[in-house]
Amino acid sequence: MNWSGQRVLITGASSGIGAAIAEAAAKRGAELILVARSADKLEAVAEGIRRHGGTATTHLCDVSDAEQVALLANEIQTPDVLINNAGAGRWKPLVETSPEEAAAMMEAPYLAALYMTRAFLPAMFQRHSGLCLFVNSAASQLAWPGAAAYTAARWAVRGLFEAVRAETTGTGVHAAMATFAKVSSDYWKNNPGSEERVPVAQTSVPILSPQQVAEAILDGVAAGREEIVAPWQLRLKFFANRLFPSIVRREMLRVN
Ligand SMILES: NC(=O)c1ccc[n+]([C@@H]2O[C@H](COP(=O)([O-])OP(=O)(O)OC[C@H]3O[C@@H](n4cnc5c(N)ncnc54)[C@H](OP(=O)(O)O)[C@@H]3O)[C@@H](O)[C@H]2O)c1
Repeated sequence: MNWSGQRVLITGASSGIGAAIAEAAAKRGAELILVARSADKLEAVAEGIRRHGGTATTHLCDVSDAEQVALLANEIQTPDVLINNAGAGRWKPLVETSPEEAAAMMEAPYLAALYMTRAFLPAMFQRHSGLCLFVNSAASQLAWPGAAAYTAARWAVRGLFEAVRAETTGTGVHAAMATFAKVSSDYWKNNPGSEERVPVAQTSVPILSPQQVAEAILDGVAAGREEIVAPWQLRLKFFANRLFPSIVRREMLRVN
């Protein structure tokens, strides 16, 4: 897929990975539809894109709220590419996670991605084209102590991606998932207590910047890949986990 001229909607575009994807996609000629809740931060990302000659509109929406998503879907034309990236959640052991925190972690990213995809899929089906991409974490394939609700929510996103891929097969619409280990975004500042619980195994996987993640996504989609995993050391971990699950599971138990 060539990014030039594509209308790309990104949730969670006010910060980190979402903002970096927006800036990189704009450089490749895409028209951006930026969605998040923080007006100032979202406008700053859009302004930066416009200053460099790109096109970006901003839309305030809590994507974990089904009614707000329905209003957004009425307000804008269905994009060519939907990037479900919005997400948050503090890493905590299960017994320290309140029911409210656990529910909030399922609301974004998982339910948010479900509401957004559900809202735009019908028009994509009618057009026989479109791409729904899910940004995900290594926690969607591996588990370690101290991040229970976060991990469960990322497995849910992976399940949603698989379901959307199955339901779109043969329709002209496509699904993709991009999975990363640690990224040096504001996630760690925005979700206090999480960084302390990064597994020791992360030391053998280089930390990526949001810009590196954005390029991996754009290149992966351009190459037609449905499953994008970066860096390559993380692919190796997933492969090892398929061959020797008990060894990798033991390795993941060691947390900082
Ligand atoms: N950082 C990492 O190491 C890493 C690695 C792999 C995967 N990921 C995943 O990538 C996603 C993005 O993370 P990031 O590192 O870019 O974190 P971040 O810098 O904290 O950005 C999170 C973004 O999500 C938006 N957001 C959160 N809840 C929202 C809601 N209910 N409605 C609308 N927007 C919402 C935030 O915007 P507003 O607050 O303005 O709404 C913000 O733009 C997360 O799901 C994260 O789990 C992160």
